Amino acid sequence: MVPLLDLPRIHKPIQADLERVAVEVLRDGKYILGPQVTELEKKLATYCDVKHVVSCANGSDALVLALMALDLAPGDEVITTPYTFFATVSAITRLQLKPVFVDIDPVTFNLDLNQIEAAITPRTRALLPVHLFGQAVDMDKLMAIATKHHLRVVEDCAQAIGSRWNNKMVGGFGDIGTLSFYPTKNLGGFGDGGALTTNDDMLAEKLRILRLHGMNPRYYHKVVGLNGRLDTLQAALLLVKLPLLDSYAAGRRANAALYKELFAKSGAKVEAPIEIPGAFHVYNQYVIRSANRDTLKAHLAKLGIGSDIYYPLSLHEQECFAFLGYKKGAFPQSEKAAATSLALPVFGELTRAEIEEVVAAIASA
Ligand SMILES: Cc1ncc(COP(=O)(O)O)c(C=O)c1O
Repeated sequence: MVPLLDLPRIHKPIQADLERVAVEVLRDGKYILGPQVTELEKKLATYCDVKHVVSCANGSDALVLALMALDLAPGDEVITTPYTFFATVSAITRLQLKPVFVDIDPVTFNLDLNQIEAAITPRTRALLPVHLFGQAVDMDKLMAIATKHHLRVVEDCAQAIGSRWNNKMVGGFGDIGTLSFYPTKNLGGFGDGGALTTNDDMLAEKLRILRLHGMNPRYYHKVVGLNGRLDTLQAALLLVKLPLLDSYAAGRRANAALYKELFAKSGAKVEAPIEIPGAFHVYNQYVIRSANRDTLKAHLAKLGIGSDIYYPLSLHEQECFAFLGYKKGAFPQSEKAAATSLALPVFGELTRAEIEEVVAAIASA
């Protein structure tokens, strides 16, 4: 038995602190935008090495808020990947913007930067890269394309807090970065949560207003915003976990290295993930590829080993995005990834014996 993720195990060493701060919030009564929210934003800004962090209700709202802040017009085109979580693209369509997909690089699962320029049209306004599974996109290359074509950049860092490109934290390259504190993320909360990162004072101010119904001062609405705040309770709990974030990533990286070593010895027929030069991968997901993925997943399940598929259907093939007019075959690498990828347990608290068990099970498949 090896779980894909075991949150109570991760939280056990800090359980008493979590309970203490939760009770403090309950007794204190400042449930909305309490002092812990501001404290978390300040500490996250230091951690992410950006000027401003604006917390919000979840990573999906963060993407919507980011695109709202850029003042794009309906029909403007945003270039992004079809191989990501749904929310990256629903944020675009929700604002009547047009997602334009570019296929992924088969090694990193991230946007193939060599194909971006061919997708740029006179309506292109922004690039929306996703640092998928915790590995950074080559942001030097992406920002060079953005600068050349005068495009805005929103980085979806939902799976990648702490991830770096050439020693610089993701979320600090583009105009805005978005974070998620969904419980499975490396900085996972106890419910929904999210945040935005930016080095731009004006954008930070705009994001603060947008996440609060667009009002400033109170009951005077400059723009139509969202109720998109992070709860004080989540902020208080996340403040307990934030100092441990680097050790969580280190544990995941150590397990990824152990998998690599054991796969090489076992002769298992899988492609292990590759950390490309320049990237500091934080392995929010450890995703292998197998030609017999579905059989392998069933075999692991029979042995009590957790695994999951991120994601089984490329977004250009989703029913809700049929109106975009993409056909099957349009993005072969994304479709291939959807058919072959499998996420294995990688959280830092796994034991060596558990990783050995996973590798042995895969070798026996
Ligand atoms: C790449 C990506 N973008 C956006 C989101 C949305 O975040 P949330 O679940 O906090 O709304 C997620 C999280 O699931 C994600 O993995």
